[in-house]
Amino acid sequence: MQQVTLGPFDWPVADEDVRVALEQAYADGSWGRYHGPHCEALAARLCDQFSRKRAMLCSSGTIGVELALRGLGVGEGDEVVLAGYDFSGNFRAIEAVGARPVLVDVDSETWCLDIRRLEGLDSSAVKAVVVSHLHGGLVDMPKLMNMASRRGWRIVEDACQQPGASIEGQPVGSWGDVSVLSFGGSKLLTSGRGGAVLTDDMQVNQRMKIYANRGNQAFPLSELQAAALLPQLKKLEERNQARERRVGEILQITSQLASWLRPVASRAETRPAYYKLAWSFMPAETQPELRDQLLAKLQTAGAPLDAGFRGFVGRSTRRCRKHGTLSNSKRLSQSTLVLHHPVLLAHKKAALQVAEVLVETLRHQVS
Ligand SMILES: Cc1ncc(COP(=O)(O)O)c(C=O)c1O
Repeated sequence: MQQVTLGPFDWPVADEDVRVALEQAYADGSWGRYHGPHCEALAARLCDQFSRKRAMLCSSGTIGVELALRGLGVGEGDEVVLAGYDFSGNFRAIEAVGARPVLVDVDSETWCLDIRRLEGLDSSAVKAVVVSHLHGGLVDMPKLMNMASRRGWRIVEDACQQPGASIEGQPVGSWGDVSVLSFGGSKLLTSGRGGAVLTDDMQVNQRMKIYANRGNQAFPLSELQAAALLPQLKKLEERNQARERRVGEILQITSQLASWLRPVASRAETRPAYYKLAWSFMPAETQPELRDQLLAKLQTAGAPLDAGFRGFVGRSTRRCRKHGTLSNSKRLSQSTLVLHHPVLLAHKKAALQVAEVLVETLRHQVS
């Protein structure tokens, strides 16, 4: 069986500008201070790049979603809509504020919350919706914001996977009442850990600040982390373009397997950013063990592919309400393969080799 010989695909990549920024933070002493110029500069840059009035830096995307819900005043007795397939920390964030998740199915083509499924929802107790842009798919934010304003819901837009993406020319991360970014170690913008919460709503921002202040900021981002992020923000667009080109080339190769692999689809007037690139391995939608068998072979061959999220279909109805069927969420939780982004910045030959190994391994399994 063919092997990936042109890896491994490390992240973060060596970046001279990050080294210089960290050395400057050492030289000016800000590396050891509570406050300094880097956090302030980063918050300002984020506001600028994501078209927002306020950016609150914090310790992770997960805590960012919780802060966003607290800022919106969501709490005990409230319900919060969440996709049946999403990052597990978002379910926990809703529970952490004392609210109850209401699970709604995803669109099988975009991996994201299917807005059409919100139509018949009994939403008397729903105060907010948490939506994530996942695996190269994008939420239909124009439709969601329109529906939310009619129904009185507030929107938390989880942009942790897709900084730099856009919908109708407007940045992802600028659509929700509150939007969240992650700077975790695997993310497109990384400082090992970290996150940010963006909003135009001063009241929400004030509530988040009060909650996070325990005499000192409880979920902070450090000066050193901010220093490492600033040069990466400048390169985000250029890197996203490179990743997008590679995705096009990879999808061309895997399109030979269209009867087995369904890639994530982007709608017109959207431009995704690729933290993960997803396919559904269709035979596994009904026979989940097939995905695990395929992944074991791919990983042995050195291909950096993984399973997607487990999703929430199996969660007890004591912990959440389930609206309608969650059949797409179930299928995708069983069948999703994701390619991790460092491959997309690697040499073209290396990325294409990964795609070829995927094709060959899959052919071998299904033949
Ligand atoms: C969609 C989504 N939301 C939130 C997070 C959480 O980010 P963090 O790791 O910074 O807590 C992740 C992390 O993978 C994610 O994929």
